[in-house]
Amino acid sequence: RTCSLLGVPVETGAAQRGCTMGPASLRTAELGEIIAGLGWQVSDLGDLTVPATPARAHDNAAIHHLAETAALIGALEPAAFDAAQAHDRAIFMGGDHSMAAGSIAGVCRHAAARGRPLFVLWLDAHPDLHRLSTTTSGNLHGTPMAYLIGEPGFEAYPPLAHPLAPENICMMGIRSVDEPEAAHIRDRGIEVHDMRAIDETGVLAPLESFLARVRAARGLLHLSFDVDFLDPAIAPGVGTTVPGGATFREAHLIMETLCDSGLVTSLDLVELNPFLDERGRTAKLLCDLTASLFGRRVLDRMTRSF
Ligand code: ARG
Ligand code: MN
Ligand code: MN
Ligand code: MN
Repeated sequence: RTCSLLGVPVETGAAQRGCTMGPASLRTAELGEIIAGLGWQVSDLGDLTVPATPARAHDNAAIHHLAETAALIGALEPAAFDAAQAHDRAIFMGGDHSMAAGSIAGVCRHAAARGRPLFVLWLDAHPDLHRLSTTTSGNLHGTPMAYLIGEPGFEAYPPLAHPLAPENICMMGIRSVDEPEAAHIRDRGIEVHDMRAIDETGVLAPLESFLARVRAARGLLHLSFDVDFLDPAIAPGVGTTVPGGATFREAHLIMETLCDSGLVTSLDLVELNPFLDERGRTAKLLCDLTASLFGRRVLDRMTRSF
């Protein structure tokens, strides 16, 4: 069983700088060594390089780094496709969440090449469903999901060969939604479990029902994990903290359940900002959560009973 790591050191989609150091921080926290220790053959593909491009303006004057983001998506899509084609698991180490427009587009093309539908589990405080016309912050990490589902007005981004079906998305942990994003959630029928829903039902019931859908469709599952999904008390190393996030136990339970399902074939770890972290604790937590996804467990429930 093989697993690839690809660093995507970008921060142009965020308001604050620091996410370019995310891949280095995850490597320092020994992400690759931890996964290798769980029995995987790990290949670190290094960091993606994105060609420099001249600046480009948009009618929405709030937008910044449009040309850089378009170039990032254009470079990452084929790299993500190749990583997914060549390895059983592919991890994309961010970088801000604008990179998901490239990683998921590449993984979508990979799924299509295998004749399988792609599903996405989006763990985030935010749905990142802005069109270029609706973002008021101008931070393009707020736009990848709208691009991926084929919303209009993304002519400045690379053309999307394989849009993601909105009914194949499940979002959990959502607690900061702008009105144009809420409109898309309603019109496109995206499955969203906000923090109120998680408080009411826990994480397991909605997760199991989504996984049953993925399994029934013989789908591939991509997990896009934004650090701000977690409560800021346990994960301070992110620029867009929102109070009331997922707990340590909820997050590990999700990762362990995903591991048991065997369905996750690719993963984004995004928005880690080491400049804001405290002695590497957020990077270490991401490594531990990824370890749960790759098979670390306290007791092997399949073969032992106590
Ligand atoms: N909705 C807000 C915006 O568009 C926040 C987006 C935060 N996204 C993220 N990937 N952290 O600016
Ligand atoms: Mn996000
Ligand atoms: Mn977020
Ligand atoms: Mn919108």
